[in-house]
Amino acid sequence: MTHLTELFKCNICTNIVEITHEGVGSLICCNEAMKLLEEHYPTKEDAHFAQIEHIDEITKKIYFNHPMTQEHFIEFIEIISLDKKYIKRKHLKPNDKAELIFKCDCKEGFYIRNYCNIHLLNATKDMEAR
Ligand SMILES: [Fe+2]
Repeated sequence: MTHLTELFKCNICTNIVEITHEGVGSLICCNEAMKLLEEHYPTKEDAHFAQIEHIDEITKKIYFNHPMTQEHFIEFIEIISLDKKYIKRKHLKPNDKAELIFKCDCKEGFYIRNYCNIHLLNATKDMEAR
């Protein structure tokens, strides 16, 4: 059984897929079961911990003090409302700013995920909704 927003990775070809509709089957790629990417929860001092700037009542900027070099960078950032009705993803390349600006009232709150090419999937869960 899969769950909304879970990410699965193929360890052979490195495909990553996100669940947008839950099902009971297994995900197979390159003739092998895809691996569920576990979320890591960095501390506030960690470069994978999301920083937030409130631009106005519904506009927020999420950013990371993380390297964005060819060797080590954040490949994408996602905001996910806690009710999972709202998801926004921004894909990044080396030398891009590790930031995402979005509008969402997200009254129930939200959390942020990023995928680092070295440290994989990280989540910041204690984002406040304002
Ligand atoms: Fe990293």
